[in-house]
Amino acid sequence: PQPLRVALLGAGVVGGAVARLLTEHADDMAARVGAPLEIAGIAVRRAGRDRAALGVDPALFTTDAEDLVTRADVVVEVIGGIEPARSLILRAMEHGASVVTANKALLAEDGPALYDAAARHGVDLYYEAAVAGAIPLLRPLRESLAGDEVRRVLGIVNGTTNYVLDKMDTTGAGFDDAVEQAQALGYAEADPTADVEGFDAAAKAAILASLAFHTRVSGADVYREGITEVTAADVAAAREMDAVVKLLAICERSDKGVSVRVHPAMIPRSHPLAGVREAFNAVFVEADAAGELMFYGKGAGGDPTASAVLGDLVAVARHRVGGGLGPGESSYADLPVLTMGDA
Ligand code: HSE
Repeated sequence: PQPLRVALLGAGVVGGAVARLLTEHADDMAARVGAPLEIAGIAVRRAGRDRAALGVDPALFTTDAEDLVTRADVVVEVIGGIEPARSLILRAMEHGASVVTANKALLAEDGPALYDAAARHGVDLYYEAAVAGAIPLLRPLRESLAGDEVRRVLGIVNGTTNYVLDKMDTTGAGFDDAVEQAQALGYAEADPTADVEGFDAAAKAAILASLAFHTRVSGADVYREGITEVTAADVAAAREMDAVVKLLAICERSDKGVSVRVHPAMIPRSHPLAGVREAFNAVFVEADAAGELMFYGKGAGGDPTASAVLGDLVAVARHRVGGGLGPGESSYADLPVLTMGDA
């Protein structure tokens, strides 16, 4: 079969992990897709940086993203931010490419325009990595629960603030000290505003509510309060009451409508969300027939986010190859099956 051309936009923490894993897993992914995936190019802002660690042909790097997206079957956008990501995605779709993106800010601001463009051009738009990193959460909301009625989605969807609040709880650190620790570990950005002011969580909550309730919620619709006002004294007071402070995203549907909010909340230590430590994420989904479901895992970081991106890539690539639904047979098909005694 003809190889599928994959254009990668961005070679930062996530893009680098995608490029490396795509190269390492090339044979298995080809087996699951039903055709080889070939990297058509990797768009970067600046040429000439040392990117040898990614293990891809240096000739693939280009600073001409506008041209690259016209030469691809699938475009993977991991540059983030609104522009130029939005224009590049729209241009890719106009040229017939399906799109995989991890861009929560863009989806929360302008999701409907992107869905409409995808529908108009008859291409796929997948974005599992945009919310809660590695955790498969959007596909279950969009597909597995499509025959149920979701009532509530509630959880911790920002790893950086969870890390900060966890450090304040376990070490008694103040807010600024805890943010510095998060920055030293690479969780918080040099400018941590989007995380600590709750913008990142609000964007994710908007995406979750849109999918869960089949409606259009934008980031600006979300009530938002970050964690910058949470003091060491607040955390100590919670501790006295056998509780912890967590930044929660809460999406609810009632007969009156949909409410979506992000704010710090005190929760009892006995609650499963209280046990979500460090930069992990956890989300509860409550649906009429399914009851309560819980999703837990790494919500940030290069490899975890790349895992979700690659899963989407297999799905959209397979769709293009033959309209197939699940992943095809893997190249491990001939591995012997062990019994418990052998393993
Ligand atoms: N800054 C985000 C977080 C990264 O800390 O969760 C993943 O969206």
